Amino acid sequence: GSVINPQSVTDYLALPRCLICVSPQGDIEWIVEDVENTKLNDVLAQHNCAHSDITLVCLNDGEFLMPGLVDTHTHACQVPNLGVGGEMELLQWLDNYTFPTEVRFKDVKYAERAYPDVVRRIVNSGTTTCCYYGSLHLEATKVLASLVHAAGQRAFVGKCNMNRNCPPNYIEPSVKESVDTTLALFKYIEELPKATCGEPLLHPILTPRFAISCTEELLTRLSEIAQKNPKLAIQTHISENKAEVELTKSMFKTNSYAEAYDKFHLLRNNTVLAHGVHLTEDEMVLIAKRGSGVAHCPTSNFYLSSGMARVGMLLDHGVKVGLGTDVAGGYSPSILTEIQHASIASKMLAIQAADNMKCKCSGGCSESSSSGEEDSRSCGRRGHQHHECDCECDEKPSGRFTNQKLSIATLLYLATLGGAEVCCLQDRIGSFEQTKAFDALLVSVREKDTGNPAVWGYNPDRDLTQGVTAQNADKSLIEWLERFLFCGDDRNIKKVIVQGRTIGGRDYHPSQ
Ligand code: GUN
Ligand code: FE
Repeated sequence: GSVINPQSVTDYLALPRCLICVSPQGDIEWIVEDVENTKLNDVLAQHNCAHSDITLVCLNDGEFLMPGLVDTHTHACQVPNLGVGGEMELLQWLDNYTFPTEVRFKDVKYAERAYPDVVRRIVNSGTTTCCYYGSLHLEATKVLASLVHAAGQRAFVGKCNMNRNCPPNYIEPSVKESVDTTLALFKYIEELPKATCGEPLLHPILTPRFAISCTEELLTRLSEIAQKNPKLAIQTHISENKAEVELTKSMFKTNSYAEAYDKFHLLRNNTVLAHGVHLTEDEMVLIAKRGSGVAHCPTSNFYLSSGMARVGMLLDHGVKVGLGTDVAGGYSPSILTEIQHASIASKMLAIQAADNMKCKCSGGCSESSSSGEEDSRSCGRRGHQHHECDCECDEKPSGRFTNQKLSIATLLYLATLGGAEVCCLQDRIGSFEQTKAFDALLVSVREKDTGNPAVWGYNPDRDLTQGVTAQNADKSLIEWLERFLFCGDDRNIKKVIVQGRTIGGRDYHPSQ
């Protein structure tokens, strides 16, 4: 059936008649990008497959497969807080909404009641790989880890390290306790049974909440743990809010936020840095050099009035970028919402950049439109497209992505392959490729299957089969994808598949 397959930051394939062969372990054995029905037997024979060896699944019209979504940053323990507190900014919001919500997870029974729905909701939103923050509590975070494990989701689960600048009832009492509970969680996660494919789907992750909440002594100890375990992933927040940036620089006596982490060797290739709204170009260079990735969380960045991360500039500096819901700084558990807001944020930045682009050579450039009036290419004026001018000033936009709108291909990339790179899982997930795991969504755009008329297109005469020929089938598929990304929701996700196993979606009924 129809398959969407991301290839790079700028490209994806729309394949109306693709065949993907998945092994019983859930890995992709081979892919044929275009198979005519009449040639199916030949294709199977070429791959030494008999019909009796395989289960052949044919998709219906209006259905397609795409790689599962990757959420590179979310707080499971903040789901009870979704959609409240958005009138505040970060530091005030943490004190007034977030810490009081998280402290409830001290009670394991509360965690046992809250977390099952959290994990189910995130899985059914199409997130096949998720980087979770728990609260600071060991026992509650064990509950989260075992639920994620039982659900069969690919994930990283960490408990927050936080021993200063937090309320007295929600703070770790000592460096020792913070370190001991962290190591105990790692052990618990590592001892959970492996998936049938033989590799663990669930990984521990070191989670110093953010620089402000950790003493230098604690960061030193966490860094030692990290140095001993080069494969251990690390997640934290960076440069989300201007007041936070200033406080961090003054507390750590550094010139930049990134340097505060770098001082403790916490920037490395498997570090996930959430937000990065106010990163300077020097910091981007440092982060790229260290190989760390940024979780772009545009819903949260808008909701908490943090600002707009310069994703295009990060990409031009060679920083890995994925998307994060940042629940409950973000008010949606779905990566689709992040795709929509990442698009809007990039358009806002592009509009601002065009408005602000003024040439320093004022007067030197005399280009004018054919009507004789100054047009948008003339110097010193709003909307000046600097790169179209021959002058020598140095304000030309640098790179392919800086100040540009993100294309559908780039948005899809950020939600899949980009997220995979941020998690250092690009060899396993993010696209359909031989030897990668089959982590996928079965999406339907049909209103009658999904109850979602928006993706269907509100056209009463619309019939998927009408007018679709072999020649234009890929165009229809491209339209289905775009509508799903912008108008879709969990109703359109029929199956959520991780490592070849269906673990969620509308058609998933675990009791059967
Ligand atoms: N910085 C430190 N903790 C948090 C948190 O819980 N959410 C967000 N958005 N930023 C943070
Ligand atoms: Fe966050």
